[in-house]
Amino acid sequence: MTSASYHVPVLLEKSVELMLTDKSGIYADGTLGAGGHTRHLLGRLDEGARVFGIDHDDEALAEAASSIKDDRFEAVKGNFGYLATLLPPETHGRVSGILLDLGVSSHQIDAPERGFSFREDGPLDMRMSNLRAKTAHQVVNEYEYEPLRDLLYSYGEERRSPQIAREIIKRRPLNSTHELKACVEQVVRGPHQVKSIARVFQAVRIEVNQELEMLKAGLEQAAHVLEEGGRLVVISYHSLEDRLVKYFMKSGNFKGKIEKDFYGNSVRPLKPLYGKPLTADESERSANPRSRSAKLRAAEKLGKVDA
Ligand SMILES: C[S@@+](CC[C@H](N)C(=O)[O-])C[C@H]1O[C@@H](n2cnc3c(N)ncnc32)[C@H](O)[C@@H]1O
Repeated sequence: MTSASYHVPVLLEKSVELMLTDKSGIYADGTLGAGGHTRHLLGRLDEGARVFGIDHDDEALAEAASSIKDDRFEAVKGNFGYLATLLPPETHGRVSGILLDLGVSSHQIDAPERGFSFREDGPLDMRMSNLRAKTAHQVVNEYEYEPLRDLLYSYGEERRSPQIAREIIKRRPLNSTHELKACVEQVVRGPHQVKSIARVFQAVRIEVNQELEMLKAGLEQAAHVLEEGGRLVVISYHSLEDRLVKYFMKSGNFKGKIEKDFYGNSVRPLKPLYGKPLTADESERSANPRSRSAKLRAAEKLGKVDA
């Protein structure tokens, strides 16, 4: 399998162009995946540059390591929520660009044994990494009604979450992705059924991988390790992620409200480069369906005081 069939990189040109501020700088790709973005970035950098490619999934790391043979590149296993710990201390405050291309790769979704897919039957796993202890099986079979309902509602934005949570509990034990899918099919009929199934799977996946918590931590750490003028580029695929990214880039917190210091100066680490997110153009959207929901936001690290 080639890297391109493993995962087609989304918004490739634009994201790399936006993160590139110094051709000999230090870069971090926090979501290495099959290495599509990192390979393109390396192609644009000079000899003295360094690129750290981080992923918490062994399969992604193995794929990237086998296809990227470059002395400037270093693959690192870990969760970008611990970005500062994963990067060597001498790079802190000196990183020129960071990319987070969030979510699961096509390869992870397409491997039924990973349990992300509702099209193919598989075990209820959904862990993006063996660093995580909790599986979808535990979430679906062990959570009580209220936490289950609430996570389907808040992480899946699924209106019928009370009924679906009750159906899941009624059918326990559930062992496969198709058994989970059948719970949603029982509750939601008609044209919205597939969307509801996707929302429920998204919600369980976010819970298993603690995706929003890790995103918040990763954004804070990215702001910490960037140098002044360095760029943070984030590609997100659903509104829960995009909202966190938007607020953080604007204000440095997750409420989106810019705080002022005693002298009235804004206290925020970053300044967004655009008000609205960038999206894929029509040709990319038709060639790569995954790009249709992608939203790219970019921000620049400010100096200590942003007047
Ligand atoms: C959308 S894919 C990235 C694809 C990559 N940009 C490419 O072009 O091949 C997301 C990757 O990020 C990894 N990932 C997601 N969340 C992560 C996290 N919190 N820490 C580390 N890796 C993460 C996933 O395992 C997956 O391999």
